[in-house]
Amino acid sequence: MSKLRFVLSLLFSTAICFSLPPIAARGGHSDYIHAVLGDGNSSLYGTARHLFSQEEPRPSLELTRGYMTNGDLEKAMKDFTKRCSKISRLYSIGKSVNGFPLWVIEISDKPGVLEAEPAFKYVGNVHGDEPVGRELLLRLANWICDNYEKDPLAQMIVENVHLHILPSLNPDGFTARKRNNANNVDLNRDFPDQFFPVNENLGLRQPETRAIMTWLSENRFTASATLHGGALVANFPWDGTEDKRKYYYPCPDDETFRFLAKIYSKSHRNMSLSKEFEEGITNGASWYPIYGGMQDWNYIHGGCFELTLEISDNKWPPASELPTIWEYNRMSMLNLVASLVKTGVHGRIFSVDEGKPLPGLVVVKGINYTVKAHQAYADYHRLLAPGQKYEVTASSPGYKPKTTTVWLGENDAVTADFILIPEASSGGKLRRSICDCSSCGQPLLTRFFAETNNGITFALVVVVAFLCFLLQRRMRFNLWKQRQSSRRSSITV
Ligand SMILES: *[C@@H]1O[C@H](CO)[C@@H](O)[C@H](O)[C@H]1NC(C)=O
Ligand SMILES: *[C@@H]1O[C@H](CO)[C@@H](O)[C@H](O)[C@H]1NC(C)=O
Ligand SMILES: *[C@@H]1O[C@H](CO)[C@@H](O)[C@H](O)[C@H]1NC(C)=O
Ligand SMILES: [Zn+2]
Repeated sequence: MSKLRFVLSLLFSTAICFSLPPIAARGGHSDYIHAVLGDGNSSLYGTARHLFSQEEPRPSLELTRGYMTNGDLEKAMKDFTKRCSKISRLYSIGKSVNGFPLWVIEISDKPGVLEAEPAFKYVGNVHGDEPVGRELLLRLANWICDNYEKDPLAQMIVENVHLHILPSLNPDGFTARKRNNANNVDLNRDFPDQFFPVNENLGLRQPETRAIMTWLSENRFTASATLHGGALVANFPWDGTEDKRKYYYPCPDDETFRFLAKIYSKSHRNMSLSKEFEEGITNGASWYPIYGGMQDWNYIHGGCFELTLEISDNKWPPASELPTIWEYNRMSMLNLVASLVKTGVHGRIFSVDEGKPLPGLVVVKGINYTVKAHQAYADYHRLLAPGQKYEVTASSPGYKPKTTTVWLGENDAVTADFILIPEASSGGKLRRSICDCSSCGQPLLTRFFAETNNGITFALVVVVAFLCFLLQRRMRFNLWKQRQSSRRSSITV
């Protein structure tokens, strides 16, 4: 067995000699050291991150002039949520190794309120020495706040999406002007990997990584992007291959990811003109494989379609160039978020007997990937490349699955609501509850009858019934408004 390993690692090392990658933003050479060690001694996997992280020359202090410090960033975010309190809130998902809060701005017309809407997240500064993203994300937030009452795209985002912005995942690395966090770990190699048990050791997982993982377990994000620097390209899964060699390795949603990556590159001023990357996009593994990355983990475990965006060849350009870089990326950043509303199949899953939302599953024929409807509202958001017909099936335990065919045009989204019938339907009477909230149901009324005298009871019943009526009307109106605003074709299955 060790002979086989030796031969494999020899073959692998030889392969590297013929395909040395450029020193690039997602990783560069340290990945190769990492991978070779992994072949030779798998017990080193867990610690390789600490022992062999690359020592790049640190950018000079002079270069940081004009960039926000962590303190400046924190203040800018607090000022933003004060200035734009109507459409935003500030929260933290944890702390860095050195105790700096990982602040997030949420932007929505109902920030902090759970709605039947898709959510998008932007994460910047995963690598401490790639600070352009954190600057652009603050500009994005401010631009949306300044324009959502006059710009249709900004308005669409505020009304139909919950946009979460984490400008800096690695504030400690930023202060040190280094790629890794304060424990010298590359956060974009710290996630559990689908092919190799790189980061199974929970004790070694970094607080920043844990914060992201908990965030995803508590929020349902439909899509996301992390912003890096050192190249100009939109990178999509898979990031790694099973045999550690470098080639195009498509994930089940390859077409959808290519479509999303192209939204970014083609809306960008010059990303799609790249000579190195056709159309300004790349499959991660065909560029250079990495393991333990955030992107693949998001897609596999978070139900979230994540891109890794390299937004500037120069990792630390002079601050005077930031306004131009922002202009180059502005439409890309907006269009990527808006794609959650403008494309794909969306809807809700209900049960026929009570009309109650079912947190069911949605699959598309020919694509080995399951999208979950939300636990509370049972809304689902299935991103798909346009210009095709799709067979969409909704299911929920104890109910008969239903399938429908939708045609996704080039420039629209489809709403498909599913009403499922229980599997062991005894043919009993269908009953619709008075209103959709169970708290207005019978137990409450019965209690009123038992505990109060008749006159008061009657008055209370009238009031409760009227409130239910108003609530239901409002819900219907909101649903109607939502459909109007996104101009979707809509079917109920
Ligand atoms: C792997 O590395 C560990 C220490 O890092 C060492 O104790 C062990 O002997 C190595 N195993 C092999 C098979 O080389
Ligand atoms: C895009 O524009 C930037 C800034 O002008 C330039 O540095 C870069 O080389 C350009 N890239 C491509 C692919 O045109
Ligand atoms: C579908 O994907 C799962 C992993 O998510 C895998 O275990 C399974 O083998 C795949 N099925 C097919 C038919 O490829
Ligand atoms: Zn990076």
